[in-house]
Amino acid sequence: MLMIEANKLRKEYHIEGVETVALADVTFSIAKGEFVAIMGPSGSGKSTLMHILGALDQPTSGTYVLDGQDISHVSDRDLAGIRNRKIGFVFQSYNLLPRTPAIKNVMLPMMYANVVPAERTERAAKLLTLVGLHDRMGHRSNQLSGGQQQRVAIARALALDPAIILADEPTGNLATTQAEEIMHIFRDLHNEGHTIVMITHEPSVARYAKRVITLRDGRIVSDQKQ
Ligand SMILES: Nc1ncnc2c1ncn2[C@@H]1O[C@H](COP(=O)(O)OP(=O)(O)OP(=O)(O)O)[C@@H](O)[C@H]1O
Ligand SMILES: [Mg+2]
Repeated sequence: MLMIEANKLRKEYHIEGVETVALADVTFSIAKGEFVAIMGPSGSGKSTLMHILGALDQPTSGTYVLDGQDISHVSDRDLAGIRNRKIGFVFQSYNLLPRTPAIKNVMLPMMYANVVPAERTERAAKLLTLVGLHDRMGHRSNQLSGGQQQRVAIARALALDPAIILADEPTGNLATTQAEEIMHIFRDLHNEGHTIVMITHEPSVARYAKRVITLRDGRIVSDQKQ
């Protein structure tokens, strides 16, 4: 049961006549329930790959099948729908609405998806409890620590029960203790069966994943279970 099938992904950027090949020839698959870290030096293509996996961008060539659906050539509009339904994003900078209570931040994707109000509140409260913030639901995001904000972002990513969680440097702005708390949440989510793909520079963070894919110059140079 595959969640991701990437076949010969290539991504070129053309700027002022200069061609950059961000992804050269990337082929791999990820099964449902895997916890994968993507590593590699700066400029190796990690974010480019993440954008394609997250249906934020499309490859120049190659195919990408997400949860059984080939989305390499769908329209931007369809891509947005797939993104909302299938993907829970966690970013380095949290991307919460400022001055908005934690619970509202988690409810927001459910509002856009027309989940009925009573269910939104109940599910948001449940998810915030899951990430250890039952006593912070009414706090505005600017009244929370970085680690707490990232926990709200994880609860928000789970709001619509995504097929996959994509995290781009989720601990990049956090001190060690807070980073460990975040990784314990990802570990628990993995143990519950969630599929997680995470970009990280930190070996101490990648250690939590069960498989590490390393990119260099837009190619996979190693792919190891651990
Ligand atoms: N929008 C863009 N236009 C032109 N070139 C781009 C664009 N985005 C990325 N690139 C180029 O593609 C290559 C891969 O970039 P990417 O952002 O995927 O690297 P990365 O592995 O995420 O690096 P970092 O660790 O620094 O975040 C780089 O050479 C970069 O300059
Ligand atoms: Mg990057």
